[in-house]
Amino acid sequence: MLDRYKKRTPKSGALWKRAVSVFAGGINHNIRTFCLDRVGAYPPYIARGEGAYVWDVDGNRYVDWWMTHYSQILGHNNPRVREALINRLQNGHHFGAPNEEQVVLAEKIRKAIPYMEMMRFCSTGAEATMYAVRLARLFTKKKLVAKVYGGWHGGNDTVGYHVSFPYNDDPFYDGVTFNYNDIDSAREMFKKFGRDLAAVIVEPILGAGGALPPIPEFLPFLREETNRLGALLIFDEIISAFRFRYGSVGEALFNVRPDLTTLGKIAGGGMHLGVYGGREDVMALAAPRAEGGRWVGGGTFSSHPLSMVAGSVTLDELKKRNNQYEHLNKVGDGFRDRTNTLFRDYGYDAISTGFGSLVYLSCLHKDIGNPPYTSYTIGQAFDHEQMNMFQSLLTQEGVLGYHGLGALSFSHSESDIEFTLSAIERVISALSSD
Ligand SMILES: Cc1ncc(COP(=O)(O)O)c(C=O)c1O
Repeated sequence: MLDRYKKRTPKSGALWKRAVSVFAGGINHNIRTFCLDRVGAYPPYIARGEGAYVWDVDGNRYVDWWMTHYSQILGHNNPRVREALINRLQNGHHFGAPNEEQVVLAEKIRKAIPYMEMMRFCSTGAEATMYAVRLARLFTKKKLVAKVYGGWHGGNDTVGYHVSFPYNDDPFYDGVTFNYNDIDSAREMFKKFGRDLAAVIVEPILGAGGALPPIPEFLPFLREETNRLGALLIFDEIISAFRFRYGSVGEALFNVRPDLTTLGKIAGGGMHLGVYGGREDVMALAAPRAEGGRWVGGGTFSSHPLSMVAGSVTLDELKKRNNQYEHLNKVGDGFRDRTNTLFRDYGYDAISTGFGSLVYLSCLHKDIGNPPYTSYTIGQAFDHEQMNMFQSLLTQEGVLGYHGLGALSFSHSESDIEFTLSAIERVISALSSD
């Protein structure tokens, strides 16, 4: 079924052959095969990007929904971000010493998210969640961490478990898990483990685990229980911050203030950035020689000037577009409705979930009824084989994404939306007539 794709991507095919001999599994981030390796093909090798599009090394254009793992909300190769990066490069790019740009970016972040009273920068989201958990453990003098099924907080050992269905236990990790959007499951977890909990880490809007908005009582319940038990609540806003509004979503959309917050992706303007921050009394433990503190931080490339300027310019641009978020979110809502209608019309077992500009498509092997959904419901009904085929055929149709699609940017136009919908229609039509 992927003959057309293979025919027009010979250079990608040749690169893949070389890649599998040097990289385990051929890639350096598991997602970046875009499922094509699972159906006997290979991912496209991307050579350039502009706005909502990327082009592979063979010159094929794709409407990009992946947008650098949801980071490029301004679109690829934004002229202001590019200019800032080039300007910074004129004077050398990193010295492993304090730089002015880091202070500027941190001040902008704190202005946008005032409850990030103090923060630290590192290079990736995985580091940010690792350090946030370390601080929670230091502060509470407890060890256990709870996360939700399907919650992805990066590849660090503390939180890198129960990330994909069937959520098998892995003896390598020592945290506990509960079900996103399921109060009973959370209650049971608190009952069993509450006294030993250092932290609960959760995305206020679930990302990789199914892209689900919270039911109204879910986040307040986590806040009440963590307060009662003396555990910290960490909101991982590495996807959600600056995606749905200028700032974070925890307090602004759901009226729940976490103790610590992690950021990355958009806040780094598509460059490498992780941020962890929040309550001053907790963050104080990260300072060298803090009483009760321990080593927290480090990283040769932390607060890299290129990330600082890319993040800073991106936040400036987004602040100017603050009143355009509403429209972007509405476009996402409308798109999800239309994909769900398509799935229904074709009798194709799949669902489009998400929130605002975040769009996640899941092929299902059983009906999951009406929303609200939990992360376990989505995971349990997920049809991996069908998903691999769907995703690969979508790439063949010129739409690049993962978890079905990804996220819109301010560069996506109405015709990109229509292009994507007709690509999806062709894919499900082919798969339905199989
Ligand atoms: C919610 C969330 N947290 C953490 C991470 C890890 O970030 P990074 O890939 O920069 O390590 C990701 C990355 O996809 C994420 O989506």
